[in-house]
Amino acid sequence: MTYSRITGTGGYLPEKVLSNQDLARMVDTSDEWIRERTGILKRHIAGPGEATCDLAEHAARAAMEMAGRKASDIDLIIVATTTADRIFPSTACLLQQRLGIHGCAAFDVQAVCTGFVYALGVADRFVRTGGARCALVVGAETISRIIDWTDRSTCVLFGDGAGAVVLEASEEPGILSTHLHADGRFETLLHVPKGISTHYDDVMAGKAYLQMKGNEVFKVAVNTLGRIVDETLEYNDIDKAQIDWLIPHQANIRIIQATARKLKMPMDRVVVTVEEHGNTSAASIPLALDVAVRDGRVRPGDLLMMEAFGGGFTWGSALLYY
Ligand code: UT7
Repeated sequence: MTYSRITGTGGYLPEKVLSNQDLARMVDTSDEWIRERTGILKRHIAGPGEATCDLAEHAARAAMEMAGRKASDIDLIIVATTTADRIFPSTACLLQQRLGIHGCAAFDVQAVCTGFVYALGVADRFVRTGGARCALVVGAETISRIIDWTDRSTCVLFGDGAGAVVLEASEEPGILSTHLHADGRFETLLHVPKGISTHYDDVMAGKAYLQMKGNEVFKVAVNTLGRIVDETLEYNDIDKAQIDWLIPHQANIRIIQATARKLKMPMDRVVVTVEEHGNTSAASIPLALDVAVRDGRVRPGDLLMMEAFGGGFTWGSALLYY
């Protein structure tokens, strides 16, 4: 049986750092409030000339280097992003060109904070069914571009960044399963209420901002993530005690702690980057994975649970041997 396995990871954060203290000078907030309610201490923000594809390229090159793969080896590119460089071509096509790869399928996936898990699920199906042998799967965002920097309820939460993995065909187990879900009934709890087809002029003028009813999103997120980890364990007939590392989407430390409690996992088995990165949407899971691989926590053969929840609502999980 053919599996898909992660053979390289990469991450990239823009140079500019925005601290809680910086934000307290911009809106009516405090370092104490942000730390207590979210766990976030700082986040990275893309520079004026820096676009999502620039971040994606850094992360992708690092993942390819770790995997020992060159451009000609890559036969599928999927970029999960909510903040594409252009209306079209897709960021995946722009990335393909940057990396000097020609001819393979390249497309974007848009599932907001669940984007990377969606992209991984799609790439896994390509690899397992023989449609690709060496895929580049990227989560990249310049979410700062759709933030209203006068809205304290959202501007303190997000940051920019990119993470990437190389996913290769293997006879050894890698990804065991991915579980992808959505429910559009909740669209207005977390959304950018404007888009190209409805408010073209506002979008072009940069007046299309993320809006969130944080408290309501929080409750649904905690319950939904609790359900999806159960679904994932049951599907694989695996006990929660077997999981080595939880690699969650990094939206809020309290949401992460709730899922860890549900899995009875101590926090030292959970990869947490939310303090340093904030919520980087589709980039958060591959960034967290890359941090834990490079600092030696995640080791070959470890069993990882990834889970995410985001706008749509969308949610998803992946259970995999690293
Ligand atoms: O990644 C996609 C999924 N996203 C999420 O999962 C995010 C889910 N939501 C959350 O993480 C939390 O709901 C937040 C961190 C966004 C908010 O925390 P909360 O504990 O749910 O606070 P709240 O929205 O209930 O607001 C509590 C108070 C309010 O004041 P009043 O009405 O009690 O007087 C807010 O106006 O905190 C106020 N507040 C702030 N105060 C200082 C809201 N934002 C801020 C702020 N600084 N930045």
